Amino acid sequence: MMILVSFSGFVTIFFFLLVSHTLASHTLQRDALLEFKNEFPTPDPQAADPIDFFHRSSSWNTSSSDHCSWEGVKCDGKSGEVISLVLKYISLNGSLKSNTSLFKLQHLRNLSLTSCHLTGKIPSSLGNLSHLIHLDLSLNHLIGEIPASIGNLNHLSYLKLESNDLTGKIPSSLGNLSNLIHLDLSYNHLVGEVAASIGNLNQLALLSLSFNNLSGNIPLSFANFNKLSYLDLSGNQFTPENPFTGGDVHRILPNLTSLSRLDLSYNNFKSNLSADLTGLQNLEELFLGGNSFVGNVPTSLFTIPSLETVELGGNQFEGPLEFGETSSCKYLYLASNNFNGPIPESISRLVSLSRLDLSYNSFIGTIPDSMSKLVSLSDLDLSYNKLEGQVPSFLWRVFWFTLSHNSFTSLEKSLDVIFSENLRYDLSSNSLQGLFPQWLCNFTSLHVLDLSNNRLSGSIPSCLKNSTSFLKEMYLRNNSFSGVLPDVFTDATGLQSLDVSHNHLVGKLPISLMNCNRLGFLNLKGNKIKDTFPSWLQSLDSLLVLLLGSNALYGPISSSSSYFGFPNLLVIDISHNCFNGTLPHDYFANWTKMSSATNETNSFELMGPSYYLFSMDMTYKGVETEFSRILTAYKAIDFSGNKFQGRIPKSIGMLKDLRLLNLSGNAFTGDIPSSLANITNIEALDLSRNKLSGQIPHDLGNLSFLSYLDFSHNLLQGQVPQSTQFQRQNCSSFENNLGLYGLEDICGEIHVPDATSQQPEEFSSEQEEVLNWIAAAIAYGPGVFCGLVIGHIFISHKHEWFMKKFGRKNPSGMISVR
Ligand SMILES: *[C@@H]1O[C@H](CO)[C@@H](O)[C@H](O)[C@H]1NC(C)=O
Ligand SMILES: *[C@@H]1O[C@H](CO)[C@@H](O)[C@H](O)[C@H]1NC(C)=O
Ligand SMILES: *[C@@H]1O[C@H](CO)[C@@H](O)[C@H](O)[C@H]1NC(C)=O
Ligand SMILES: *[C@@H]1O[C@H](CO)[C@@H](O)[C@H](O)[C@H]1NC(C)=O
Ligand SMILES: *[C@@H]1O[C@H](CO)[C@@H](O)[C@H](O)[C@H]1NC(C)=O
Ligand SMILES: *[C@@H]1O[C@H](CO)[C@@H](O)[C@H](O)[C@H]1NC(C)=O
Ligand SMILES: *[C@@H]1O[C@H](CO)[C@@H](O)[C@H](O)[C@H]1NC(C)=O
Ligand SMILES: *[C@@H]1O[C@H](CO)[C@@H](O)[C@H](O)[C@H]1NC(C)=O
Ligand SMILES: *[C@@H]1O[C@H](CO)[C@@H](O)[C@H](O)[C@H]1NC(C)=O
Ligand SMILES: *[C@@H]1O[C@H](CO)[C@@H](O)[C@H](O)[C@H]1NC(C)=O
Ligand SMILES: *[C@@H]1O[C@H](CO)[C@@H](O)[C@H](O)[C@H]1NC(C)=O
Ligand SMILES: *[C@@H]1O[C@H](CO)[C@@H](O)[C@H](O)[C@H]1NC(C)=O
Repeated sequence: MMILVSFSGFVTIFFFLLVSHTLASHTLQRDALLEFKNEFPTPDPQAADPIDFFHRSSSWNTSSSDHCSWEGVKCDGKSGEVISLVLKYISLNGSLKSNTSLFKLQHLRNLSLTSCHLTGKIPSSLGNLSHLIHLDLSLNHLIGEIPASIGNLNHLSYLKLESNDLTGKIPSSLGNLSNLIHLDLSYNHLVGEVAASIGNLNQLALLSLSFNNLSGNIPLSFANFNKLSYLDLSGNQFTPENPFTGGDVHRILPNLTSLSRLDLSYNNFKSNLSADLTGLQNLEELFLGGNSFVGNVPTSLFTIPSLETVELGGNQFEGPLEFGETSSCKYLYLASNNFNGPIPESISRLVSLSRLDLSYNSFIGTIPDSMSKLVSLSDLDLSYNKLEGQVPSFLWRVFWFTLSHNSFTSLEKSLDVIFSENLRYDLSSNSLQGLFPQWLCNFTSLHVLDLSNNRLSGSIPSCLKNSTSFLKEMYLRNNSFSGVLPDVFTDATGLQSLDVSHNHLVGKLPISLMNCNRLGFLNLKGNKIKDTFPSWLQSLDSLLVLLLGSNALYGPISSSSSYFGFPNLLVIDISHNCFNGTLPHDYFANWTKMSSATNETNSFELMGPSYYLFSMDMTYKGVETEFSRILTAYKAIDFSGNKFQGRIPKSIGMLKDLRLLNLSGNAFTGDIPSSLANITNIEALDLSRNKLSGQIPHDLGNLSFLSYLDFSHNLLQGQVPQSTQFQRQNCSSFENNLGLYGLEDICGEIHVPDATSQQPEEFSSEQEEVLNWIAAAIAYGPGVFCGLVIGHIFISHKHEWFMKKFGRKNPSGMISVR
C-alpha cells in the first residue's frame, strides 16, 4: 500500500499527506476491527468451542499488523479500505451494538455474519453503512423489528435475514431498495400485510418470505416481478381473495414469466386457480399444497415444458385432470384433494414421472394400462381411493407402492423377477382374494410386504424361505390363511415386524424365528396355534411386543428349570389361551423395560428406521381397542382368560411403568398383592373373575392414573378404598364378591347388585377416553412421528419442520395418520 508509486521529489508534500492519510485510515480501520471483536464477550475457556476462531487461533490480533489479511476481512485493492467482512459459523455470542465500531468501516460493501450466534436487535444505525451491497445476518437469534433504515441502503443487492426471531411488519421502506436482487426474510415471526411497495423491487430474482405469520393479500404489485425466478411465500396466512377480482393470485401469476420455483404452500388460499399459466415457460417447481384451492387445476399447467415438480396436495382441487406433453415432470403430488373419476389415461404422457401420489382422493375404476409407460416410476401412492379390479403386472416394477384402502380384488403375476434392495409393497385393506402370490418368493429382495386386511386364503408358502433375507416387515394380518406358519425364517435376520394375526393358522410356532435377532414386533393373535409357551423367544433381545393372544397355546409359562425374563419387552399379550400352572413370586424380577420409564426416543430407535410401524389390538379398559403405532408410550401385560393358579406374583409391583394389567378370567387365589400400589403409572387394572380373597389393599387408592379397574367375581371382602379413582368406577367393577362394603356412593343405596349383565351403554364414554388416551400418546414428544404412518413418500426437510412447528398433519397428505 505504501510503496504504491515511484517517488518523484517535487510532489513530496502532497505524497506525504497522502501517505499519512492512508496510514492513519489504515490504523483506524484496524482498530475498528479490534474494537468490533471486543464488543463480544470473551468466551468461557472451559466451554470448548472449536469454531471460535475469534478468540483462540485468531488472526485478529495486534501482533498481526495487516488487518486486510485477517480471516474474513477484505480490503479494496486501491484505497486499502475494508470493503468486506464475512464471518460464518463462529460464535460471537452477543449483539450488534447500536454504536458498533463497524460504522467506522464506512466503505463496507459486504457484511455477512451468518450463523454467528448474534443476539439482540438489528441496530437501526446499520442504515448508515451506505455502501452495502450485500447484507447477510441469517441464521442468528436476532429479535425485534427490521429497522426501516435498511431502506436507506440503496446499493443493496442481497438482503438475507432468514432464520432469526424477527418480529413486526416488513418495513415498507424496503421497497426503496431498487437494486435488490435477493430478499430472504423466511423463518422469522413477521406479521401483518406485505406493503405494496415491495412490488417495486422489480430487479428481484429471489423473494422468500416463507414461514412467518404474514397475512392478508399478496399485493397486486407483485405482478411487476418479471425477473423473479424464485418465489416462496409458504407457511404464512396469506388469503389473497378478492371477491371483486376473483383473487389476486390468478392475476399475478401469469406475469411472473421468469419463475422457476413457486411455493405458496401452507397458506389460506381459497380461490379458484383459473389462471393461464402458459407464460410461465421456465417453471420447474410448483408447490401449492396445504391450502384450500378449489376448482380445476389449470390445464395450461401441464403444458409447461420445464415442469419437474408439482405439489398440489391438501387442497380441494377437483377433476377432470388432463396431462399434456410435459415430459420433464418427475414428481407429482395430488394427494388429499377431491379428484374423482378414473385416473386419466393421459397420465402416461408424463414419461419421466418418478414419484406419483394420488392418495386420499376419490379415484375410481382400474389402474389404467397406459401407466405401464411410466417406466421411471419408483414410488407410487394410490391409497385411500376407490380403485378396483386387478393390480396389473407392470406395477411390481415400481419399487415402492401403496395401494391400501381401495377395492382391488386380484393381483396379476409379475412378468419379471424384480431385484431391488428396497421393495415395499403395501396392498393392505383391499378385497384381494385367492392364494398368496407365490411368485413373490422369487423376489429375493423383498423389504416390506403388507397384505393385511384382505380375503386371501390358502397357506403361507414355504418358498418364502428364499425371499426373507432382506425382509424387514411382513403383515398378513386379518386374512383367511390356514395351515401352519412355515418355518421359513432361518435367514430373516433383518426381520423387525411380523404380523400374521387373525387368520386360521394351526400347528406350532416356527422355531426359525429364533434367528430373527432384530425382531421387535411379533403378532400371532387370533389364530389356532397349538404349542407350548415359546420361552425360547426370550433370547431375542430386540423383542418389544409379543402378542400371542387367542390361540390354543397351553402349559406353564414358567418352570423352575427355565426361568425367563423378557428384559426389553414393553407389551405382552398371551390372553385367551390355555396356559396354566403357577407363577413364582419373583416371576417379573427381570422384566427391566417395564420397570423403568423408557426414553421414548430410545425405544423407537430400537425398532430401527422403519417407515412402517404396526398396529395392535388389545383390550383396554374393557374395550377391544386398536392401538396404532403408539408403542413407545404403552406398556401392558394381558394374561387374561387362561388357567393360571396360585398367587399373583409379588414381583408385579416392580413393573413401575406398566400402564395396563389384565389378569382376569384365571384362577388366581390368595390376596391381591399390595405391591400393586407401586405401579404408579397404571391406568387400567383388571383382576376380575379369579378366586382372589381378602381385602383390596388400601394403598391402591393412591394410584392416581388408575381410571379403569375391575375386581368383580372374586371372593373379596372388607372396605373398598374411598379414593376418587375407586369411587368413579361402575358398580359392576365390584359385583359378585364375598362382602365388599363402602360402595354406597358407587352402587347407590341398594347393596352390590348381583347382575352379571354387561352394560354396553357405558362403552361410548369409555371409547372416548380411549381415543383421548391415544391422542395423548400420539402427542407425546418424539412420539409424534411414532404415532404416524409415514407414507410411502418422502418427507422433505420442510415437511419435517412443519410437523415440528405446527404439530399437525401435513395437509399435503405426504404424511398421513392411519
Ligand atoms: C455467551 O455469553 C454469556 C454471557 O454474555 C455467557 O454466560 C455464555 O457462557 C456465553 N456462551 C458461550 C457459548 O460462550
Ligand atoms: C496472531 O496472528 C498471527 C497471524 O495469523 C498468528 O500467527 C498468531 O498465532 C496470532 N496470535 C495470537 C496470540 O493469537
Ligand atoms: C457504545 O455505547 C456504550 C454505551 O451504550 C459505551 O459503553 C461504549 O463505549 C460505546 N462504544 C463505542 C465504540 O462508542
Ligand atoms: C459477499 O460475501 C458473500 C459470502 O461470502 C459472497 O457470496 C458474496 O459474493 C460477497 N458479495 C460481495 C458483493 O462481495
Ligand atoms: C446513523 O444514522 C442515524 C440515523 O439513522 C443517526 O442518528 C446516527 O447519528 C448515525 N450514526 C452514525 C454513527 O453515523
Ligand atoms: C402484467 O404485465 C403486463 C405487461 O408486462 C402489464 O401490462 C400488466 O399490467 C401486468 N399485470 C398486472 C396485474 O400488473
Ligand atoms: C420363479 O422363477 C423361476 C425362474 O426364474 C420360475 O421357473 C418359477 O416358476 C418362478 N416361481 C414362481 C412361484 O413364480
Ligand atoms: C430357493 O433357493 C434355492 C437356491 O438358493 C433353490 O434351489 C430352491 O429351489 C429355491 N426354493 C424355492 C421354493 O424357490
Ligand atoms: C434374573 O436374572 C438373573 C441373572 O440374569 C438370574 O440369575 C435370575 O435367576 C433371574 N431371575 C428370574 C426370576 O428370572
Ligand atoms: C396344564 O394343562 C395341561 C394340559 O394342557 C395338563 O396336562 C397339566 O396337568 C396342567 N397343569 C396344571 C398344573 O394344571
Ligand atoms: C432420550 O434419549 C435421547 C437420545 O438418546 C436424548 O436426547 C434425550 O434427552 C433422552 N430423554 C430423556 C427424557 O431421557
Ligand atoms: C414399593 O417400592 C418401594 C421402593 O421402591 C419398596 O421399598 C417397597 O417395598 C415396595 N412395596 C411393595 C409392597 O413391594
